Amino acid sequence: MAKVISLINQKGGVGKTTSANAIAVCLKHKNFRVLCVDFDPQAYLSFSMGADNRDKPTIYEVLKHSIKPQFAVQRTPIIDILPSNGLLTNVEREFTGIGSESILKECLEPLLKNYDYVVIDTPPELGLMLSNAVIASDVVLIPALSDGYSLHGVIQVHETVMRIKEALNPKLVVGGMFLLRYYQREALSRTARETAKMLTRQLDIPLLTTTVRHSNVLSKAMTMLQADIIEYAPNNKAVQDYIRLVDELFEKGVL
Ligand SMILES: Nc1ncnc2c1ncn2[C@@H]1O[C@H](COP(=O)(O)OP(=O)(O)OP(=O)(O)O)[C@@H](O)[C@H]1O
Ligand SMILES: [Mg+2]
Repeated sequence: MAKVISLINQKGGVGKTTSANAIAVCLKHKNFRVLCVDFDPQAYLSFSMGADNRDKPTIYEVLKHSIKPQFAVQRTPIIDILPSNGLLTNVEREFTGIGSESILKECLEPLLKNYDYVVIDTPPELGLMLSNAVIASDVVLIPALSDGYSLHGVIQVHETVMRIKEALNPKLVVGGMFLLRYYQREALSRTARETAKMLTRQLDIPLLTTTVRHSNVLSKAMTMLQADIIEYAPNNKAVQDYIRLVDELFEKGVL
């Protein structure tokens, strides 16, 4: 049965989608069977993986039960993915009442036997979409930028995670927070690391030692070329960082 991992942070632009793509690709290159789930109406993960979200069914049709999940999975040159598109914005309005927080979990269940890992990308918000992702997950990972505002937002997302864990998903593991665009030589990054250490200690969640450096190549591979980042730029510093990050998650028993 697959282990389900969600990348979460209600702050926008911190690297959730980039990390979902990179972690999924790293797992694939370790010969695991990986499914990506794009659970963000912005659909950047679908785009970065080269999925067709215009003419083919998406996660939205799956949530609506108009199609079985296995028929909405696309096999792109990079990975298997349940894509999304703008229709997913309807979820908050259309799904209300008891059980609306568990729809994603139910929809993914029939697919779990076919994969070792499912990686979910989530939107920058704390609403129903995030609850669905957290309830469907075994592990949540929190990417954060190396700046004060970004770190502060982690307190809110952590509160949501804890509420759901206690009420609905006691086996959930907070795999940890990790810092993106981190520079050892920059005073601001070092200050951010100290703040992150204090914050994670206070919240009692792990701070991963691996940080991900800035790289335009990573961005280009995903947003312009729809390339597998390890095939495209195996020696790129940020790609190397993600490989190390995944190794750290294995060493810590999170994956
Ligand atoms: N390590 C990195 N180096 C350079 N650019 C990066 C890196 N990580 C992410 N980016 C870029 O930063 C931008 C935001 O990243 P991303 O889309 O992954 O954030 P997000 O948290 O998913 O945003 P949103 O909350 O809007 O979904 C993107 O343009 C992405 O290409
Ligand atoms: Mg995103």
